[in-house]
Amino acid sequence: MKLILLGPPGAGKGTQARRLMDAHGIPQLSTGDMLRAAVAEGTPLGKMAKEVMDHGDLVSDDIIVGMIAERIDRPDCSNGFILDGFPRSDAQAGALDSMLAERGLALDHVIEMKVIDDVLVERITGRYTCANCGAGYHDTFQQPRKIGVCDECDGTEFKRRADDNEETVRSRLDVYHDQTAPLLPYYRAKGVLREVDGMADIDDVTAQLGAVFNGGN
Ligand code: AP5
Ligand code: MG
Ligand code: ZN
Repeated sequence: MKLILLGPPGAGKGTQARRLMDAHGIPQLSTGDMLRAAVAEGTPLGKMAKEVMDHGDLVSDDIIVGMIAERIDRPDCSNGFILDGFPRSDAQAGALDSMLAERGLALDHVIEMKVIDDVLVERITGRYTCANCGAGYHDTFQQPRKIGVCDECDGTEFKRRADDNEETVRSRLDVYHDQTAPLLPYYRAKGVLREVDGMADIDDVTAQLGAVFNGGN
């Protein structure tokens, strides 16, 4: 199964990709997570990317396309993958088409996670993750069962993203509407676009995605 989760910042792409990965055993390929790993390692790419990400702009297409091309050739992608945060521009969508065609692959579904802008800022500014395993939480919408202890690994250290402040979120939303949302009609015309109501509860969204995964719509 080869899927794209397409939606604005805070739509729930990462939250749901992790659940799909656990349920179906196919990897989540998050370009945002890959870039944050490079930032944490302090590589030249990470140093360059940090500045761009802190402004909420897009890192250059060549770099991103190269990262994904290398990633989908790894053995864990042999049964498919979930693209989270890629593609985000016309150029990236075109490059993905070529990459898949060269390998004799095709997308099964492109899933639009629809959420209105007003709630996205609240979701993003309240987000935090487990520093040990990456499990995602929210100050209001998704607290761990025991406050201060990760449900998945019992870790007690948590972190927040440098770009999760209101000002940067507003720029990320503008970039989404300008450069990424125009991909929706592109995928609709190809007949692969499905919509899920990303405003619903987290478990409800998971159920909607399960229906798409299992052949419904
Ligand atoms: P990236 O990491 O991809 O960030 P994003 O697209 O802005 O999306 P987020 O990760 O913020 O949101 P999400 O949809 O994953 O939401 P989540 O599930 O965490 O990219 C970051 C930056 O890297 C970009 O700005 C850019 O600079 C660069 N970059 C990345 N990819 C690139 C590319 N392809 N090209 C160029 N540059 C690129 O949920 C958010 C919160 O809400 C959580 O706290 C969660 O608990 C909560 N929540 C989730 N679902 C629900 C729900 N249904 N109800 C209530 N709360 C919910
Ligand atoms: Mg994410
Ligand atoms: Zn954890």
